[in-house]
Amino acid sequence: MTALDLRGPARERGFMLPDTSALGASDREAAIGTWLGRMVNEHISARVFAALVPQLMAAGVEHDDLARVAGMIGEELSHGVMCGAVVEALGGEAFAPLPALDAVPTHADAGPVEAALRNLLSICCLSETVAVALITAEAERTPVPELAEVLRVILADEVGHARFGWRLLGPLLERLDAESPEGRERLGGYLIGAFRHLREHELAHLPPRPAPSPEAERYGVCDGNEARALFFDTVETVIVPGLAAHGLPARVAWERSLA
Ligand SMILES: [Fe+2]
Ligand SMILES: [Fe+2]
Repeated sequence: MTALDLRGPARERGFMLPDTSALGASDREAAIGTWLGRMVNEHISARVFAALVPQLMAAGVEHDDLARVAGMIGEELSHGVMCGAVVEALGGEAFAPLPALDAVPTHADAGPVEAALRNLLSICCLSETVAVALITAEAERTPVPELAEVLRVILADEVGHARFGWRLLGPLLERLDAESPEGRERLGGYLIGAFRHLREHELAHLPPRPAPSPEAERYGVCDGNEARALFFDTVETVIVPGLAAHGLPARVAWERSLA
């Protein structure tokens, strides 16, 4: 088994929480499990941006934007350490099995602009936009200022990751139009699978049950039912209309992904 060991960098942060002695053993375990899960997810999301760099490069995206994506790799790695520091402050260890890493698709069946658009849609416009909604809700809810601050720092980066995709979408779509009049329609077909994958991935991390206790919720164990509702709301009222405004058949794609 390969392990993700962030104990060293997490402890170096010296992150402290105020007295957590009111947290019972099972609530503490749930809170540690939540932040360990976040640690792993944040850490492995770095590889997605690493894969995006050569893909955007091949699509002729300019230097400053490539440098921004390169910066996002470090931001995700740092989010992993921040979550690991919370684990340690809760009395756990920033050490977890590393899951099997899915390959980031290269979309060799598409030209460079269309291939880059597919991953930009999936990573920034879908996943990162959902992350912004979920983390915003978490940051507003937690009454522990130290945790709210961690979430706000992560959130600021996720907002940048999502905005980056939405900003680049227009110019890349215009280039795709010049290459292929059916390009947007084909991306609509791609979005069916991308939405399905997004939903499966997000719901796998949001169990359909309320937080075990108010005390666990204070420390970040979220109400899975509320988070699931927020996920569907974000797709239906933010992502689908946003993509439709760019001339992509996103409503049909979302509905087909549910079939
Ligand atoms: Fe992140
Ligand atoms: Fe991110």
